[in-house]
Amino acid sequence: MRERPRVFASRRFPDRVRAELERSFELEVHDSVWPPAREELLGRVAGQDGLMLMLTDRVDDELLDAAGPQLRIVADYAVGIDNVDVEACRRRGVVVSNTPDVLTETTAELTIAIMLALLRRVAEGDRLIRRGEEWIWAPNLMLGHGLAGQVLGLVGHGRIGRAVERLALAHGMEVVHTTRTSGAPLDELLATADVVSLHLPLSDESRHLIDAAALARMKPSAVLVNVSRGPIVDEPALVEALRARRIAGAALDVFEREPEVHPGLLGLENVVLVPHLGSATEETREAMGMLCVEALRAVLLDGAVPPNAVT
Ligand code: GLV
Ligand code: GLV
Repeated sequence: MRERPRVFASRRFPDRVRAELERSFELEVHDSVWPPAREELLGRVAGQDGLMLMLTDRVDDELLDAAGPQLRIVADYAVGIDNVDVEACRRRGVVVSNTPDVLTETTAELTIAIMLALLRRVAEGDRLIRRGEEWIWAPNLMLGHGLAGQVLGLVGHGRIGRAVERLALAHGMEVVHTTRTSGAPLDELLATADVVSLHLPLSDESRHLIDAAALARMKPSAVLVNVSRGPIVDEPALVEALRARRIAGAALDVFEREPEVHPGLLGLENVVLVPHLGSATEETREAMGMLCVEALRAVLLDGAVPPNAVT
């Protein structure tokens, strides 16, 4: 019997996914909620045929060299693959796969959740009660804004952006969108939207797309929602705009220097902060894992290109 391919996974992940990987491969796992340090990661990828890596692991020439020429696939446990130098993988004939589709609705749902948490002041109200503050129902207590009739401006209109659009329409929002990262359509969206929500991958074009100038174009009553990637927003510029009340609020699932959060955000009441939970449901994280398993099996057992290969 030929030896089973070797696979290394860089984090603890759902049990069913682990059982499936163990059925097919010689599996090694960095079995922790924390990522391996870079040197440990470089050591552990050595000699592996397949890698299941996370968005916190940088895949570049250094890592591919450390893995060795037998490496055939990097299965990224994410839809956004900005952590992977896809070109470096392609040069070496290493397949890269990601986890599209299974997290689309999940991420769209979190977008609406943090949008509502911000506009209806859910997190702020929770903090008020936990502080033990005195309160009673009052006509003017913590008034927010409903979604109906507000203009949602989607920057990015891929699978997730379109799923957010469907949910937003069900809430009575008006939806406009652009897929452009510069020019008149973006400027017009920023100037007219009540809620600006980001749904595009991180790239050279999208890095700091929302900078001081973009924030200055937004209405003072508008809010920013980001469930995509932190570096698309210039975080210090956002803190400045929030402090100066140039925009009304922000709901953030991702951060520029994740997991660091700009300290200026922490003291602001008109900001909702969640720790990168876009795809974080039991069902979706298992489904993402199974997409990784299927991609690893396709490449390492069947010599096939998986449908979720990134090209
Ligand atoms: C999460 O952010 C992902 O890209 O899957
Ligand atoms: C990601 O899946 C997107 O296309 O929005």
